[in-house]
Amino acid sequence: MSAHEIPTVALPSGETVPQLGQGTWRMGENARKREAEIAALRLGLDLGLTLIDTAEMYADGVAEGIVAQAIQGRRDECFIVSKVLPGNSTRAGAVAACERSLKRLKTDRIDLYLLHWRGTPKLEETLSAFEALIAAGAIRYWGVSNFDVDDMEALLALPGGTQCAANQVLYNLRRRGIEAGLLPWSRARGIPIMAYSPIEQGRLLHERMLTGVAIRHRATPAQIAVAWVLRQRDIMVVPKSGTLEHVRENRAALDIELTEQDLGELNRAFPPPKGPRPLELL
Ligand SMILES: NC(=O)c1ccc[n+]([C@@H]2O[C@H](COP(=O)([O-])OP(=O)(O)OC[C@H]3O[C@@H](n4cnc5c(N)ncnc54)[C@H](OP(=O)(O)O)[C@@H]3O)[C@@H](O)[C@H]2O)c1
Repeated sequence: MSAHEIPTVALPSGETVPQLGQGTWRMGENARKREAEIAALRLGLDLGLTLIDTAEMYADGVAEGIVAQAIQGRRDECFIVSKVLPGNSTRAGAVAACERSLKRLKTDRIDLYLLHWRGTPKLEETLSAFEALIAAGAIRYWGVSNFDVDDMEALLALPGGTQCAANQVLYNLRRRGIEAGLLPWSRARGIPIMAYSPIEQGRLLHERMLTGVAIRHRATPAQIAVAWVLRQRDIMVVPKSGTLEHVRENRAALDIELTEQDLGELNRAFPPPKGPRPLELL
């Protein structure tokens, strides 16, 4: 697979986005790392990882500024995801939050704007803001994050709720709960899942079983963790890395084909859920 042949996932509109993208949580928290983080995101773009996930919450907006620098001169190549905090998700609050994000991102549009998690403002209000932002061209699609099946049902019951373009949730080898509920529910309704924390924020790196599978593939445990999510080609995945070598590794995870033996061993070490479980968050 060449750098430009990244598998894609279709949004409900039919537009496709790269299956593998780049996260940005914790970027911008340490000024000394800023240049390295920008370089890592740029390398990712060179490798075809043009889906970039950020949020107004990350480093209080500084992460969006890092994204702005990384995509400078390359905006049209990118599919930018950002998120509004629940506390800002009233009708007027979400519109104002989006304007601030656009300024920090130095762009005129966010491709996919998510409600970061469900808060106290009514979903109707947030939806109304999202619709106004789409009409104004400030965002192209809207979606949600950390929504479990009951939240999704409440959303889809609202006028316009079926326009939801994606749900970004925690999903990795240690957090497989969605397989028994939210994942099949979303597939049945054509709402794509975007998996966050595929390496469990680094905590999967030292799992013995992952190391065993990694050795067989001459890969790293991180690559096996990412490849395990990527093998389901309808799920978008956004690992975060501020390290050039890790970005290269994560891109190469797309080329790893896990065998039946690998999957059997991983299932034994990280069993699938036996029944529905509440959605976990980080
Ligand atoms: N919607 C939400 O509520 C939510 C919640 C959490 C995360 N997210 C999004 O999902 C993204 C990813 O999740 P995450 O950042 O929580 O965790 P993650 O991607 O599972 O893990 C990131 C950690 O793994 C390390 N890492 C990445 N690639 C590696 C590799 N190949 N080898 C070794 N270590 C590697 C990173 O360090 P280096 O930087 O040094 O590579 C970083 O410490 C976030 O950045 C954010 O955009 C969304």
